[in-house]
Amino acid sequence: MDPEEESFEKKLQESISNPKNMGEMENADAVGTVGNADCGDMVRMFLKFDEANGKKVINKASFQSFGCQTAIAVASMATEMLKGKTIEEAKELSASEMTDEIGKLPPMKLHCGQMVEGALKSALNAGDDKNQSQGVKDQSTLTKSFVQDGASSGKIKVIPLT
Ligand code: FES
Repeated sequence: MDPEEESFEKKLQESISNPKNMGEMENADAVGTVGNADCGDMVRMFLKFDEANGKKVINKASFQSFGCQTAIAVASMATEMLKGKTIEEAKELSASEMTDEIGKLPPMKLHCGQMVEGALKSALNAGDDKNQSQGVKDQSTLTKSFVQDGASSGKIKVIPLT
């Protein structure tokens, strides 16, 4: 492993061992879930909004990750970055910006970052005023199907990344 890879791997492991904002958020204003059909992993992002200077901003973000350690690290970093951002600013946040702190994701793990980015975008779309009630409603159906399918088949229900 070259020194750059080694340093990245070390920082990644640190972030995985001490993830921030991990867990379901009660009373979230928006929830987004994305899964990857190839590896079977899944990330769910929860957002809580507030008003600041007449604009809707992210007050709190948390996540759940089903299966993927790298996604845990990326989502942890993303949730820290999101505080105080408007929906528009958060929509601009790319997977590579989320991992700025530790360096670039290696090619094999790029999809893990993209999955987090997808879950964030999905939650942000649900958080847009016009879509909000629909987004949360869809999510509750999704959560039910996730739980039901998980219980009956023992497998995670995967929502393909678009
Ligand atoms: Fe598939 Fe990380 S290995 S999302």
